[in-house]
Amino acid sequence: MSSQFPAARPRRLRKSSSLRTLFQEVEFNLDDLVLPIFVEEDVTGFAEIKSMPGVFRIPEPKLAGEVERYARAGIRAIMTFGISHNKDDAGSDTWNEDGLVARVARICKDAVPDMVVMSDTCFCEYTDHGHCGVLHGHTVDNDATLINIGKQAVVAAQAGADIIAPSAAMDGQVQAIRNALDAANHPEVAIMAYSTKFASGLYGPFREAGGSSLQGDRKTYQMNPMNRREAIRESLLDEAEGADCLMVKPAGAYLDTIRDIREASRLPLGAYQVSGEYAMIKFAAAAGAIDEHRVSRETVGAIKRAGADLIFTYFAMDFASDGGI
Ligand code: PBG
Ligand code: ZN
Repeated sequence: MSSQFPAARPRRLRKSSSLRTLFQEVEFNLDDLVLPIFVEEDVTGFAEIKSMPGVFRIPEPKLAGEVERYARAGIRAIMTFGISHNKDDAGSDTWNEDGLVARVARICKDAVPDMVVMSDTCFCEYTDHGHCGVLHGHTVDNDATLINIGKQAVVAAQAGADIIAPSAAMDGQVQAIRNALDAANHPEVAIMAYSTKFASGLYGPFREAGGSSLQGDRKTYQMNPMNRREAIRESLLDEAEGADCLMVKPAGAYLDTIRDIREASRLPLGAYQVSGEYAMIKFAAAAGAIDEHRVSRETVGAIKRAGADLIFTYFAMDFASDGGI
């Protein structure tokens, strides 16, 4: 038999839809996803976030019904953000036992006890200056913030949060939270560290969503997006401090970092497809440039392929209600 050129023909396995499915290497499903939600106090109506079409601020009185709706659609985990009307210079509402952080965790857990409730643990939605901690002059005081973040974590745990998710990017925050939780008799509550968090322009729409009053930026505490080695170091530090799960944020522009950390650690790894990634897809689709259904699935699938075990995405409810993935 004469040998033909080319011998290797990958197209053989792409001939039909059944063949393509059979040889597909990676897939994701609803069990891998976490839906981030925004809950606003002192309001009664839903408000669409203009820079995130299809995403609404949930009024606190409607939260229980919403969580039930997510559960019925097949969502198993949510990440909660509060939109506060009780801001001060330290974000003290976050460690008030009847403050918004506590009430949100309690309402979600009471509504659907099986829902995994992750409480975003930071201060920027609760400080009048919009920074992620206590401000001294123009910088955030790392160690003063650590004391407060421990208090917030304990309050969220007491209210029923399954997972504490610190996003303040303070050095030592995981250990401070672990110590505080253990001292308050909550050794069972896990920490999902935003362990590699870049100072990214892709958080733009989140600032509108969260009603942030931030002037300036977070470059003295969040990471320089150009640093690959430091990205691994940050996550390994959080592992050493006692994190139960690591995270890379944003996700789509940092697939190399996801892969690096997947290889450097044996902890589970999350990745957060952030507000700007969502907005880019939504607005490009609305302009007719891309197909939202395809690109949302392609981007989340690529994040899984890069090595993430769980993915935070604002598309989670679309995937759930839109005839599956
Ligand atoms: C604040 C926080 C941010 C996000 C999650 N927690 C914004 C920021 O760090 O400025 C971003 C989420 C998103 O953009 O979807 N600690
Ligand atoms: Zn913050």
